Order: sequence, then structure tokens, then C-alpha cells
Amino acid sequence: MQFKLTEEQLAVQAAAREFAQNELKEGVIERDTNMTFAKEQIRKMGEMGFMGMMVSPEYGGSGMDTMSYVLAMEEISKVDNSCSVCMSVNNSLVCWGLEEFGTEAQKQKYLTKLATGEQIGAFCLSEPEAGSDATSQRTTAIDMGDHYLLNGTKNWITNGGSSSVHLVIAQTDADKGHRGINAFIVETDWDGVEIGAKEDKLGIRSSDTHTIMYNDVKVPKENRIGEDGFGFKFAMKTLSGGRIGIAAQALGIAAGAYELAVQYSKEREAFGKPISRHQAIAFKLADMATDIEAARLLVYRAAWLKDEHMEYTSAACMAKVFASETAMKHTVEAVQVHGGYGFVKEYHVERLMRDAKITQIYEGTSEVQRIVISRNLLKGQLYIPVFNGEKMTV
Ligand code: CAA
Repeated sequence: MQFKLTEEQLAVQAAAREFAQNELKEGVIERDTNMTFAKEQIRKMGEMGFMGMMVSPEYGGSGMDTMSYVLAMEEISKVDNSCSVCMSVNNSLVCWGLEEFGTEAQKQKYLTKLATGEQIGAFCLSEPEAGSDATSQRTTAIDMGDHYLLNGTKNWITNGGSSSVHLVIAQTDADKGHRGINAFIVETDWDGVEIGAKEDKLGIRSSDTHTIMYNDVKVPKENRIGEDGFGFKFAMKTLSGGRIGIAAQALGIAAGAYELAVQYSKEREAFGKPISRHQAIAFKLADMATDIEAARLLVYRAAWLKDEHMEYTSAACMAKVFASETAMKHTVEAVQVHGGYGFVKEYHVERLMRDAKITQIYEGTSEVQRIVISRNLLKGQLYIPVFNGEKMTV
């Protein structure tokens, strides 16, 4: 067993860190306060190859592995989670799904622009009454012969207002349950696509989150992804990879808050010495470091399993649930280490605490992750020992 990154992975990690620290940090507080989408920064991330990291160069992507993607997500998430969620959705939910399940024509038309960041994509599954219960889709796509007629409302859509392409999940035949659901590629400038107001959120405030309305939108038949009825499985398979991206985001949030706490505790003095020398603070740092390291191993393992083409659904859920709970717990602790300074915006750490919360909610709540893990383990699909990918039936 090796715990070693390749030269290429180390280079990606260093490039992402440099970009986050030098180009994202300045202005992040202002963007968060004013809910300003980081358009220019996202354009640069596209130029650097961060928007289509795992897509084959044939379609304009960087052709990298999931591990490199996770490393870049971690570094960017230490600083700006509005940028990292935009990156995660575009990479995992939009580009990956299109490359894996799209037709050649769909890839040529859409993926080539999405993978370079020339265009941004959104993944439209959640609805006012279908969040965790994703099969209860109310959005309908009626087969009209040469096209589908799309009607419905999608909620909390990341990149909602800034995207050119939506992947929309909709019900085509309610009698068939999840087998009557399809996924469609929708261009946002088509007639009937209406973008609602931007959400005013607790965290990731500058990410572009909107309600989207589809009113009699004509979707050409060739824009359906996969066989008729494949939409729910498309969403689930895509989300399995997406959860690795969000787990990496949560890891980055926890690690970013930890780095700030260590730095601050070495500088701030109380009772005649740096507060890091007080056991009350030093033990907090030790607990943070231990949990973050455990989260990192789960996240890297999930990425590794995906790169090795092994089953990774449960591993992704475990990584997400643990990393997001670590992020929530230890950003609160990092604020505590900062004392009064932790409670003001100037010190970055309170923003990371607010950002942490969403990682326990989007791309499947912590409760949904536990549903998937427990169902899979009861089916005998838990992987122990983990690193050779062999199934061990429990
Ligand atoms: N891969 C392939 N197939 C899968 C699958 C997977 N990972 N998970 C489920 N399926 C299949 C099942 O095998 C089943 O198919 P068969 O009947 O042919 O066997 C079918 O899908 C239905 O599965 P379930 O019976 O398990 O479905 P369920 O109704 O019990 O729901 C659930 C399961 C796990 C709760 C699912 O609804 C779920 O993941 N909900 C959460 C949705 C979610 O993550 N939303 C996030 C929104 S996107 C977002 O947040 C993006 C953003 O902007 C940041």
C-alpha cells in the first residue's frame, strides 16, 4: 500500500493552491457579502483546466484522474466554496454525466464547450417537493413525437443563472415510477426557460443559486440522455461521483479552517504565551488534525476506487457524510480558537463555518448518505479490506 501522490497530482495540487491563495482569497469576503458571482475567476479556472478536469482531451477536457480533481477541489475549497461548488457541479454532475452517457453528437455540441469552461452547466433535479425523495418528480416532459414538452419548477439550482446548459430530470410516464423518468439537455436561451431570483443564503453566498421554471419548453428528441427511462439511474450514477467532489469540498473547508486556527493560535498570546501552548487549544488542534486526516483518507479512497473502475457508491457516501460532519464540527472549533476575531467577517473562518453547513445538505443530505450506505451494506456490498476492491460479504 502506498500513500503517495504522483508528480502530476502534486503539480495540480500546487497549481490549485497557488490560484486559490493568490487569486481567489482577495475579494472573497466582498463577493460573499454582496452575493457576487465570481465570473472572472471562474473564467480563469476554465483556462487552467479546472472546469473539465476528468474529461478526455478529445472533448476539450484535461484528461486527469478523479484524484487530481479531488486535490484541486480541496485547495480551492480552503478559500472560496462558491467557486468550488460551481467547479464541482460542472465537473462531476454535468461533464462526467455527458461524457459517460451522452451520444457523440451531444458530446460534440455541448461537452466541448462545458469542459473548457467556455460554458457552464447546471444539474436540475431538486424540486419544491422532491429533494431527498428524488423519484417524486413533478416536472413533466410529454412526448410530442419529434420533441418533448417540458413543464415544471426546479429549486436551489447551483449555477442556475450563469449556466448555458441545464441537465434536467423530468417525469415522462408517472405510471412507471423511477423507470418513467428521463434526463434532458436544455439550452437556457430556449423559449420558456425562466430564471427566478438568486437565493440569499447562509453560506456559499456568491454561488449562483436560483429557482428555474420551464414553461412549455420544446426539447428536441435527440437531447434526451440515454435510453427511454434511464433518467433516474443517470441522476443516481452521476450523483455518486458528485458526492466525491462535495466530500472533497467539505475536506477543504475543514482543512482551511484548521490552517487558519493553527496560524492564529501561534500568533495570539494570552496569559504570557501563544494560545497554541495552552492545552485547551492544543488539544482542539490535535482533534481537528486527526479527524481531517481520517476524512482525507476516506475522500482519497473514494476517488481511487473510481479511478480504478471499482464500485464506489458507498465509499463516496461514507466520504461525504464523514467529511461534511468533520467540516461542520471543526469549523465551529476553529471559530472558537479565534475567539472574538472568529466572529467577524474579516477573519475568513466564520465564512468557512457558514459554508460547511451546505455540505451536509446538497448532493444528498447526511441522512440520504446513511440510507445508501446501510442499504448497500445489508446487500453485502461493503468493501473490507478497502484497497484491493474485493467484495467481502457481511
Ligand atoms: N447507481 C445506479 N442505480 C442506482 C443507484 C446508483 N447509485 N442508486 C439507485 N439506483 C437504482 C436502483 O437500483 C433502483 O433501480 P431498480 O428498481 O431497477 O433496481 C432505482 O435506482 C431506484 O432506487 P431506490 O429504490 O434506491 O430509490 P429510492 O426512491 O428509495 O431513493 C435515494 C433512493 C438514495 C434516497 C435517492 O432518491 C437519493 O439519492 N436522493 C437524494 C437526491 C440528491 O442527492 N439530490 C441532490 C440534488 S443535486 C444537487 O444538490 C446539486 C447541486 O446543485 C449542488
